[in-house]
Amino acid sequence: MNSIYRTQYCGTLTKKHIGEKVVLSGWVSKIRDKGFLLWIDLRDREGIVQLVFDGKHTPQGLLERARNLQREFVIQIEGTVVEREAKNPKISTGDIEIVVTAMTILNESKTPPFTIEENTDGGEELRMQYRYLDIRRVPIKENLLFRHKLTMEVRKFLSDVGFIEVETPYLIKSTPEGAEDFIVPSRVDKGMFYALPQSPQTFKQLLMVGGMDKYFQIVKCFRDEDFRADRQPEFTQIDCEMSFVNQEEVLSQFEALLKHLLKTLKGIEIVDAIPRISYADAMDNYGSDKPDIRFDMQLKDITDIAQGRGFNLFDTQEYVGGIVIPNGAEYSRKQIDELIDWVKRPQVGAKGMIWVKFTGKGVTSSINKYFEPFEEKDFSIWREKTGAKDGDLVLILVGPKEQTQTQLGVLRMEMGRRLVLRNPEEFAPLWVVDFPLFSKDEETNHFHAMHHPFTAPKEEDMSLLKSAPEKVKASAYDLVLNGHEIGGGSIRIHRKKLQQEVFKLLGFTPEEAQSQFGFLMDAFQYGAPPHGGIALGLDRLVALLCGKESIRDFIAFPKNNSGRDTMIKAPSFVEESQIKKRGLVITEINDEAEE
Ligand code: AMO
Repeated sequence: MNSIYRTQYCGTLTKKHIGEKVVLSGWVSKIRDKGFLLWIDLRDREGIVQLVFDGKHTPQGLLERARNLQREFVIQIEGTVVEREAKNPKISTGDIEIVVTAMTILNESKTPPFTIEENTDGGEELRMQYRYLDIRRVPIKENLLFRHKLTMEVRKFLSDVGFIEVETPYLIKSTPEGAEDFIVPSRVDKGMFYALPQSPQTFKQLLMVGGMDKYFQIVKCFRDEDFRADRQPEFTQIDCEMSFVNQEEVLSQFEALLKHLLKTLKGIEIVDAIPRISYADAMDNYGSDKPDIRFDMQLKDITDIAQGRGFNLFDTQEYVGGIVIPNGAEYSRKQIDELIDWVKRPQVGAKGMIWVKFTGKGVTSSINKYFEPFEEKDFSIWREKTGAKDGDLVLILVGPKEQTQTQLGVLRMEMGRRLVLRNPEEFAPLWVVDFPLFSKDEETNHFHAMHHPFTAPKEEDMSLLKSAPEKVKASAYDLVLNGHEIGGGSIRIHRKKLQQEVFKLLGFTPEEAQSQFGFLMDAFQYGAPPHGGIALGLDRLVALLCGKESIRDFIAFPKNNSGRDTMIKAPSFVEESQIKKRGLVITEINDEAEE
């Protein structure tokens, strides 16, 4: 390392450097003063090394100067690497220490608002406000390092198989794509707005029309939507598109990428093909379009055996389904009541829950408390259908099919968490395929695109497009990892006529379709090749590979739960002149927002 500030990083020193003279620069992490001896832990990006200032080897006055140092001062030292008497096996440099012979203070530091140690304590708000100090801590630093490695690996892999990285614009046209757009007022064209892209979807398709053949981009996307642990208003996609491919080829290419990342970054080799499940089966068996298949506990549809016995609650509903909790028969009334309250929370939305215990000595259930339509022999059919064993508990929800399956799916995930069945060190990827092309809003009777409006219907369902659009399946696929959607994509429509037809089904008038997406349909008239692609959520992928579900600590400068950056204080009010210049008038402000 050829620098006036250092000969190497603190964290890279080992026994093999014993006897060498070194120059190091970094932050004072810890000071221990024994009077005649003083130790300092010096930290840089690569780790910590112990400095020793003693009366013997350190020049006159140096020990006194070192005594005035404080945590997070930036110093440069010169010294000799020696073997340590009391070794510290916990750190990589624990066999050695540096006897300091010269020191320069490069900068002082105020006492930080929290200690820069391993644990990320200090409170979320404080950590976000002083994110640059938070980044000095090992966990966040390691996360960013891992993200860097993954990003590099993705670039290398995709480039090696013929993808080229092309940038697409951030100031684009606002088009309906699912979430709300972030919009940017134009100064030149007053009253007009750019939108920040929710994804580069239409641009990557235009690149295919442009003959780029295989495109990728590690790209920021912006969506003004509600926050969750795995959602940020600005996030990063590994965005890809390929020409002259079918669904099978896209899946196999990106299956190879995921396997490569698991192997190179986690040392995990997945030999078998990543399993595939249809959207319908995912909903029926897991109550989710992003099933966590690390544990079983599948949904059991017992509608047919539960109905027709005169039990009104079952007979009047579309669906009766349950999940089996292994050894749940031991649960006390109190525990079960707590679970019933849990499913009634607005986030789950069930009205109540029925339970059946198979104790080994017989069946106890919340149904028979009120009414006794079911006999022992009925329950043995239940038991067979659900696969419950002696000692198990079956939790049952009833209601409209899709809604109830979703509620059971949420309960399944919660039980998986409580029973510690979701091992963060295990990686269970899954393709979800055969999505419907449209979802129908039952209230308005309108169709929405399940994926996005550019997704192609499956060839074999093309004839249903006019007669039964709700039955048409899409050439769309999601990549799921441990219960999270880490990617989604589709084969695209590449002919103007079909695209127009789909826009029409989605409720666009020909004029609206032309004004919003005319550029794409125009391009389709100039020899658009068949094409398809996928986008992976980089933040989610990185977090999940590190065994975490929240993406915030894998982003250097994330937004908080209200979409604010409390460090730079964004969003913020702007000068009146900036507003005027853009022809805008502010009619309402958020009184609670602090600048
Ligand atoms: P989609 O909307 O499914 O597809 O997004 C692709 C992937 O991006 C991630 N993701 C997010 N990550 C963090 N915060 C968010 N707010 C967020 N929203 C999405 C998810 C998701 O699977 N243009 C299409 C892709 C295509 O068809 O090729 C698209 O954007 O991991």
